[in-house]
Amino acid sequence: MPKTSNPEWDSSFAFLMAMIGSAVGLGNIWRFPYTLYSNGGGSFLIPYIIAIVVLGLPMLLLEYSVGYKFKTSLSNILHKIKPKFEYIGWFITLTIFLITSYYISIVGWDLIYFFLSFFKGWGADPNLFFVNSLLQQNNSLNGLFSVSPILIISTFAIWIVTWFICSKNINNGISKISKCLVPALFGMIVIIVFYSITLPGANIGYVAMFTPDWHVLSNLDIWIVAFGQILFSLSIGMGIIITYSSYLPKGSNLFNNAVTVIGANCGFEIFNAIGIFSILGFMSHVSGVGVNNLITEGTGLAFIAFPQVFNVMGDVAYILGPMFFLCILFAGITSLIALIEAIRYSISEKFNLSRKKATTIVCSIGFLISIIFTTGMGSYILGVFDGFLNNFALLLGVLFECIIFAWFYSVDDLIKCLNEFTSFRIGNWWKLIIKYILPIIISVLLIKGIYNNIFSGSVEDYIIKGILIIILITIPLILTKMKRVTKSEII
Ligand code: PFF
Repeated sequence: MPKTSNPEWDSSFAFLMAMIGSAVGLGNIWRFPYTLYSNGGGSFLIPYIIAIVVLGLPMLLLEYSVGYKFKTSLSNILHKIKPKFEYIGWFITLTIFLITSYYISIVGWDLIYFFLSFFKGWGADPNLFFVNSLLQQNNSLNGLFSVSPILIISTFAIWIVTWFICSKNINNGISKISKCLVPALFGMIVIIVFYSITLPGANIGYVAMFTPDWHVLSNLDIWIVAFGQILFSLSIGMGIIITYSSYLPKGSNLFNNAVTVIGANCGFEIFNAIGIFSILGFMSHVSGVGVNNLITEGTGLAFIAFPQVFNVMGDVAYILGPMFFLCILFAGITSLIALIEAIRYSISEKFNLSRKKATTIVCSIGFLISIIFTTGMGSYILGVFDGFLNNFALLLGVLFECIIFAWFYSVDDLIKCLNEFTSFRIGNWWKLIIKYILPIIISVLLIKGIYNNIFSGSVEDYIIKGILIIILITIPLILTKMKRVTKSEII
């Protein structure tokens, strides 16, 4: 019996929720507010909107149409276009697998904070708690040998949840979960933001956030940041969109769907940023510290700055805190299942493995890699992984993907697909963008990423990056060379 079959979404709502869930993730909640603030505030929205139109929408349409047309995994699609291109498929798949291994650890930290938030369990000094008590940070190699049991348990718990969802067929697993978690996430964010803007001092925060600095528009770096944010935020070039759209039934309206996903994702991150800044404005009002000294990104914002705010907030923090960490948890889980689904799909298709077997293999290996991030040196390695994989490996993969689809496959065929069931006509403008403009833009992002990776870091950083380079060259090569198991061989 063939072990891989191509399922279909049970409704266009399920597909929409899964797509929005994959896009809205940690990046939207903690990366965007800082990015917006430190890159010109209100004026950043100009390069941001241009990045949506020039990069986000065209790339999303490209991935939608490719997935919809081929109805198979990324590495298989690339193999079909030219067998040698399969290597790029595995390169991208491995890159997102490595990203998943640390992304899941952060969601695990969030799970711990969710429980702590019911009794402000981080104590009077959240910074000390996070760095010393929870992560037991030790940036030397010795740190690798001290594993934190609580971090292992939380990481394991998130892996189990992800495994459980992904091992069920899409309509019982990803579809059901996305239909519950995505609306719940949006509902909670609306409550948090509306409450936040009523806090004393909230206006200090959102005025600081939106105050434009028009000079920055002449700075190329700001444009690079805006394009990078859109790429990251919409989960472009990771095989996720291709995977999800390959489960679309015939007759789906791809254009409308892409526009809705962009609207929901980008609307979410701007709206959420208003809440984050209102809360920081409140903190500034209470503590007298300027918003510019309170805003940080990533773990610093969620696990240090916010617990500090909850400490001065009074009893309402016992509601707002758990809600805030639950939002991160839901956003993280819906992105994680999308990442794992894309990886599992490539494995299932290549080796003709059932969904359950492939998911179990992917999650087991993933968990073993995640253990690195539960050690004392974990958060340090995580920073190096993040900088290298996002600013270099992922961009390289996206560039190749874009060039292959635009130049080695018939774009006209894709246009036909996109125009089949919509009133909006995709025409030569799209061809021009994906053939010429996108490769140039992504190359600029890549050059900047390479520059950052080469010219910054300690000896340890270079060792970790060296190991990643070796892994990223050899494993995709091995996977490409391995024999594809056809359905008839299984019977
Ligand atoms: N787009 C999601 C986020 O912003 O968090 C998910 C995601 C982005 C996953 C980037 C992985 C990644 F490399």
